[in-house]
Amino acid sequence: MVPFKMMVYAPSRQEYLPVDEVPEDLKTESISGTELRRRLAKGLPVPEWFSFPEVMEQLRETYPPLSRRGFTVLFTGLPSSGKSTIANVLLVKLLELGGRPVTLLDGDIVRKNLSSELGFSKEHRDLNIRRIGFVASEITKNRGIAICAPIAPYDRVRKEVREVIEDVGGFILVHVSTPVSVCEQRDRKGLYAKARAGLIKEFTGISDPYEVPEDAELALDTTEMTPEECAQEVLLFLEKEGYIAPR
Ligand code: ADX
Repeated sequence: MVPFKMMVYAPSRQEYLPVDEVPEDLKTESISGTELRRRLAKGLPVPEWFSFPEVMEQLRETYPPLSRRGFTVLFTGLPSSGKSTIANVLLVKLLELGGRPVTLLDGDIVRKNLSSELGFSKEHRDLNIRRIGFVASEITKNRGIAICAPIAPYDRVRKEVREVIEDVGGFILVHVSTPVSVCEQRDRKGLYAKARAGLIKEFTGISDPYEVPEDAELALDTTEMTPEECAQEVLLFLEKEGYIAPR
């Protein structure tokens, strides 16, 4: 076995020393793995003594700053809560900013294509969200932006998707928290009325559960805010976290 001792840098000597061989009065510096990842993610400088320029160049390419990594914004909320409308505004704003390809995976569109054979049982809904999560993770891995807007009523599968995506980039869960009374009043597609009349079974918010997320990065209630204001909130969050450059 070859033991590998932690090395620290002594600026006054311009050399590295094993950490347990440092004289008491000698000033040393070191950068932990966590600190290096933080600096790379923020695009901050790394001191010249840390590594060879060629190595740093490779590291910066493999771990670009957050503004060049991929991310997924997953909107979750009741039917007619405003998910798709906000997602569409966000799509346009992110396309205007440019720099990365942006893909919208809207609930209804996914159900027409990717998940056309699925119904609305818990198993089928979970499978639907897993598929969306898989596509979003591929987009995120390739440094694109995925915007998803399904109901995604179950906490566990949302967390599952978060884990998969956080391995390859950013994940932002946005709860569109418009209360059911407002959603039902809007009833964009007349589905709440049908659910009340018993024509649609397992309808989220009426006869099927919606688990309110406690891990959402943002909660937006469209009762008090316009879709533009909601999309603006998401953009501000992305800016604050470093996913997009300050506008
Ligand atoms: S999810 O639960 O699997 O995330 P998803 O967002 O894909 O749902 O699909 C929701 C859309 O399907 C709704 O916007 C609505 O138009 C339609 N729909 C049809 N039946 C139901 C139902 N029983 N519950 C919820 N949405 C339904």
